Amino acid sequence: MSAPDVFDPRQYGRGIPYDRYRRLRDHHPIAWQAEPEVLGWPAGPGFWAVTRHEDAVRVLKDSSTYSSYLGATQIRDQDPADLPFIRRMMLNQDPPHHRRLRTLVSRAFTPNRVDRFETVVRERARSLLTRAVAGARAGDGTCDLVTQVTDDYALLNLTDLLGVPDTDRALLLHWTQRVIGYQDPDEAGTPALGPDGRPVNPRSPASLRDMFDYAHTLAAHKRQHPADDVMTSLATDPELTAPELEMFFFLLVVAGNDTVRSAAPGGLHLLAEHPEAYERLRKGEVGFTTAVDELLRRHPPVLTFRRTATQDTDLAGTRITAGDKVVVFHASANHDERVFQDPFALDLSRSPNPHISFGDGPHVCLGAHFARLQLRALYEEACHVLPAGPLRPAAPPRRLVSNFINGLKSLPVRMSDT
Ligand code: HEM
Repeated sequence: MSAPDVFDPRQYGRGIPYDRYRRLRDHHPIAWQAEPEVLGWPAGPGFWAVTRHEDAVRVLKDSSTYSSYLGATQIRDQDPADLPFIRRMMLNQDPPHHRRLRTLVSRAFTPNRVDRFETVVRERARSLLTRAVAGARAGDGTCDLVTQVTDDYALLNLTDLLGVPDTDRALLLHWTQRVIGYQDPDEAGTPALGPDGRPVNPRSPASLRDMFDYAHTLAAHKRQHPADDVMTSLATDPELTAPELEMFFFLLVVAGNDTVRSAAPGGLHLLAEHPEAYERLRKGEVGFTTAVDELLRRHPPVLTFRRTATQDTDLAGTRITAGDKVVVFHASANHDERVFQDPFALDLSRSPNPHISFGDGPHVCLGAHFARLQLRALYEEACHVLPAGPLRPAAPPRRLVSNFINGLKSLPVRMSDT
């Protein structure tokens, strides 16, 4: 039996290929995947897909064998000319260099600072949900939770934490759409075509220049007008160089927005699909802390992260050659029946819950605390503000065409008492 394809981004527009993941886990846990040209992007050399939980964790933890630096962390190979640039980002570095940057940015990201945003985040959840309910009542009884609640929620929470002024928030949305939505023909961020007729890489230095110029302007402003936010902390840190600051800004804008922008509607969609679980949450029969993690397990915002083998090695009985691409499939690992009992059940009190939605090893998500705080506030407020009764879908959600971000572009729901 040949290994099914889980690379083609177009299939993710229809849904996560869970059946294919299952076949891979059972019969080809380390499966070779071809990388044909798709959506105008050039063909690649192919890669190993890692779909079992145990192997995924092993790859993510062992950065000396599976490097984030050699070929960076996206499935698609970077243009060799752009690699040195993209490797300046800590996401694309290995220990020990990675550790220095991680320590620096962790100083700006303390749990105390993050916790101070809780009130503001909660009020935002309440007001966006209240407005959406009022709009549904005044209109046809439906609202789109993505365009009316969760897109703004993720973006505005991140801009608060970073300290981006209100007037500049639309810029951030534009940049993240350009970087993440590039595989999706519908997205506003679809990149321009280059002289060769192929899409311009949205992560190349040329494409990012306007974002970097903005990072400098904002840093200069923060030095003049310091505040309790992450950009003030980074801009006033004497150990951080100007290029490092640019890269942090880029990393935080992309890593902190589209992930929560995916997780928030993903969780609400699962609650709509499981009315009995939603009811138990509303009645306080299960806690929000375990619920947030179970929703993240069932809807991991990030679908894949890539590593490159630094040496010949063996992974679960498969020979990997130095230089091979090795790609972890988070949604598959999170549904591995070897680790999770009844993996397709939504058990909001599941504990322990060793999902890998935030990754594992040295690059484990730096924003996990902030992400959990936002998701918890959103689900708690949804339980208070939305009309009693199940969340009823008004139409199937529309999904992002991407093998990287598990995005929802719309989630229309009918308000039960309207
Ligand atoms: C539910 C929301 C989120 C999910 C699922 C998520 C997921 C991840 C994952 C899987 C990684 C590991 C990447 C790798 O293995 O190469 C990561 C890294 C990272 N995340 Fe998140 N993330 C989320 C939210 C956030 C937020 C809100 C921020 C910041 C405001 C953030 C900042 C970062 C940073 C800076 C890294 C790089 C860490 C490093 O390289 O050491 N993330 N995230």
